[in-house]
Amino acid sequence: MKNNIVLVGFMGTGKTAVGKALAKRLKREFVETDELITKRAGKPISRIFQEDGETRFREFEIAVTKDVSLKDRLVIAGGGGIVLNKINTDRLKEKGVIVYLTASPAMILKRVSGDNARPLLNSVNKADRIKELLGERKPFYERACDIRIDTSRLSIGLVAEKIIEELGKHENFDF
Ligand code: S3P
Repeated sequence: MKNNIVLVGFMGTGKTAVGKALAKRLKREFVETDELITKRAGKPISRIFQEDGETRFREFEIAVTKDVSLKDRLVIAGGGGIVLNKINTDRLKEKGVIVYLTASPAMILKRVSGDNARPLLNSVNKADRIKELLGERKPFYERACDIRIDTSRLSIGLVAEKIIEELGKHENFDF
């Protein structure tokens, strides 16, 4: 039986907000791989990218994912690129059901505009960059996920409710 809930999806699809709401409802601990990386590296993600490069960031991501994958009864929000390394999804799937949150490119743009904490979107044309990255990433998310939910038109609370409903249908998940 699986007992962790893992939220994956592109930047701005609501992984953090939904993860917190879900953890509260289910009385579980919420952890975010980005936050664990920041703690481990001793600096914000933007600085890891700037000073050490994306490859180093992905190494941190693999290390913290390994740690959280071993724990139980967590709600885990992964960074948007966590699915890019198959080792991460393989480890997360050992004890976790993977929930893929989606949103339209327009909604993603709305949610991330004015935010400079995401180095991969520090581009002159954010809209084009989002579409380009979404195109590249889609197969990775789809391959990894057990459950998929479009968050574009739903409130945070409703997304959390839908996840609980879907988990209920999942025969391998232990509440
Ligand atoms: C990334 C997404 C970010 C963060 C880093 C890289 C990505 O997380 O891990 O900037 O590759 O999509 P959020 O999805 O929480 O913004």
